[in-house]
Amino acid sequence: MHFAYNLSAVFKLSTLFITSFTPPTLASPVSSSNHGPSPSPVSLLHQFPPGVWAENLATTSTNSLLISLMSSPDLLLFNPSTPSIPPTLLHSFARNGPYASLLGLAATTPNSFAVVAGNYSFTAGAIPGTFALFTITLPPASAPDQAPEINLLANLPDAAFINGLIYHAFPSPAVLAGDSALGTVTRVELATGAVSTLLEVDAFKPCAGPPRGEGINGFHIQGQTLYFTNSGCRTFGTVPVSRDGRAVGEARVVVREPAPYFFDDFTVDETGVAYVAVSNGNAVARITPDGEVRVVAGGVNSTEVAEPTGVVWGRGDEGRVLFVSTGGGLGDPVNGTTVVGAQVLRIGVEGGW
Ligand SMILES: *[C@@H]1O[C@H](CO)[C@@H](O)[C@H](O)[C@H]1NC(C)=O
Ligand SMILES: *[C@@H]1O[C@H](CO)[C@@H](O)[C@H](O)[C@H]1NC(C)=O
Ligand SMILES: *[C@@H]1O[C@H](CO)[C@@H](O)[C@H](O)[C@H]1NC(C)=O
Repeated sequence: MHFAYNLSAVFKLSTLFITSFTPPTLASPVSSSNHGPSPSPVSLLHQFPPGVWAENLATTSTNSLLISLMSSPDLLLFNPSTPSIPPTLLHSFARNGPYASLLGLAATTPNSFAVVAGNYSFTAGAIPGTFALFTITLPPASAPDQAPEINLLANLPDAAFINGLIYHAFPSPAVLAGDSALGTVTRVELATGAVSTLLEVDAFKPCAGPPRGEGINGFHIQGQTLYFTNSGCRTFGTVPVSRDGRAVGEARVVVREPAPYFFDDFTVDETGVAYVAVSNGNAVARITPDGEVRVVAGGVNSTEVAEPTGVVWGRGDEGRVLFVSTGGGLGDPVNGTTVVGAQVLRIGVEGGW
């Protein structure tokens, strides 16, 4: 099937009309045409062998990266400033139970993290009832060779497909976990492991069609706004929320991708500008709050950013830098045939390098 879409790289949308008009499709998430500032510099820091899927990443207090794999239940540690040293295994959650995969990963303090473990495969999809959250505390900088402390935070037997995970401090330190299949966000108290449903939003629910059963994927809260991607609906949108993360208004779709392209996870800055992984578009797109979209790296026929999955800000001193994980084409090979292996990339944006 041929999808005719505009190859200009910038789309402008008035927020006034978003709720009453069909949102624009993302213009060429994927083309190499460049009508804006120069494409951002992309550095390939590490590439895994084909078969590995890197799902998410988080920066540590020393600007190292934790990387969660989905192709095995493994959490890796990688120092992006010494990329010739490959990622090392920090912990395999196969030791903790029948987990096949890790998904969302979030920093809860500069030195501790939470991660989603469960069973997801490209053949069977997500297996409901297999999901749990674990916390990870890294050893102090004075004893870097000590093993991290790993604790079960909560089993989520009622969850169907826990995917994205964020930290949320109010009214008490908690993590919020998005269920891609149920279209909900679950709150889990870090102090007690108590589980409650925080959000049930129609715009989080999956749409028919690929990717299988995937509604809400990544999400982040910045001030009074929750930003989310819905993979099956191919949307990026927002929900107004109160300080404790409850919805206080209607969801708004800011951008809808042209089929067959869809979004995975993303990061958002203080001004509400998001850098979004365009999964099978093999690109990272910058989306402003008023719906302006620009590709900053990659392209549909390129393996430079091969099936991106997660985006985080670096904490280094080289300006604005994104670290990006990819699936390397394992889920959707580039051009239908090319699988390069999962990647860890550094992308300079807004003058960073
Ligand atoms: C990508 O490659 C396909 C052929 O594999 C071609 O039809 C398409 O026009 C290309 N798209 C871009 C944006 O280069
Ligand atoms: C994950 O689910 C698949 C499909 O049901 C199953 O074959 C596999 O054994 C499960 N993996 C683990 C670690 O339980
Ligand atoms: C994909 O197809 C396009 C158009 O045929 C080609 O230029 C590009 O090199 C291909 N990329 C890969 C990774 O095979």
